[in-house]
Amino acid sequence: MTVDLQAAARTESVVDVRPLSPALGAEVIGLDVARPVSESVIEALQTALDEYGVLLFRSQRLNPQAHIAFSDHFGPLQEVAQKQYQLDGQPLIYVIGNVEENGRAIGDPSVGRLWHSDQSFLPHPAIGSLLYGVQCPPEGAATLFANMYAAYDALPPQMRAHIERLHAVHSFSEYYEALRERDPTQPELTDTRRALYPDVTHPLVRRNPRTGRKALYINPGYATGIKEMPGATGARLLGDLCDHATREEFVYAHAWRNGDMLFWDNLAVNHKGTPFDTARFVRRMHRTTVAGSVAIYAASLVS
Ligand code: OGA
Ligand code: MN
Repeated sequence: MTVDLQAAARTESVVDVRPLSPALGAEVIGLDVARPVSESVIEALQTALDEYGVLLFRSQRLNPQAHIAFSDHFGPLQEVAQKQYQLDGQPLIYVIGNVEENGRAIGDPSVGRLWHSDQSFLPHPAIGSLLYGVQCPPEGAATLFANMYAAYDALPPQMRAHIERLHAVHSFSEYYEALRERDPTQPELTDTRRALYPDVTHPLVRRNPRTGRKALYINPGYATGIKEMPGATGARLLGDLCDHATREEFVYAHAWRNGDMLFWDNLAVNHKGTPFDTARFVRRMHRTTVAGSVAIYAASLVS
């Protein structure tokens, strides 16, 4: 990635940041995010997120209040839409995994199994997500991240010019029907929920207003086609772009340990969960979500 050397130098003087892979990501060393964090450290973390797309904080011990307090430094947080998966009494904490309490599944069991950027089915999707590993299986359940700046930069110039004018249709209801086909235990989509999430369109290329860099914005999880290229031609182009963006050189696979916190920039990276042996292991993750806005969305439009 292009590096703002002055900003990077400032970051390094405040927090110790080490790259996780050639593709993206950095580990922030020695910061206990449950303690009060100064404004200069927050600024340094934001600069590091701009540069690396994903930040890892290991060995954290976060109760919901501390998780929320840390997340809140990065923008207004969003309440969990699926109330059955919000942590009891904590509308800002989304529980993910196969965890049960008193015989009830309290976590979303099948989140994010296709490449996606969070909430691209909304008109103004979330900008950031902070996922905390409370209980992580010893094998499987890695989360994969793809660098969407690098994927965009690596496209031939004619292709970049071509796709900048195109928009993908993102459909929550189609995503949900596909999910139910794979997992019939999912409840039927109610008319109320369907009405809550009408299909939306987003450009295939967005500029992250913080970094000024263009990134591919394609979401096989939710995008069903291209508005300007109806039918199979558009779907094929989306598929080809996703294959391109998820080539090994653009991808980092995170193997979770208990106490890991990952913070990612939804305008810089796509991500995807992977399976694990649910009969043998329990997975429990807590997520907070930094909301998008009309202003951020408008600033991300390339033309
Ligand atoms: C998410 C997500 C994947 C995972 O939290 O947004 O897609 O591996 N998670 O839990
Ligand atoms: Mn996700």
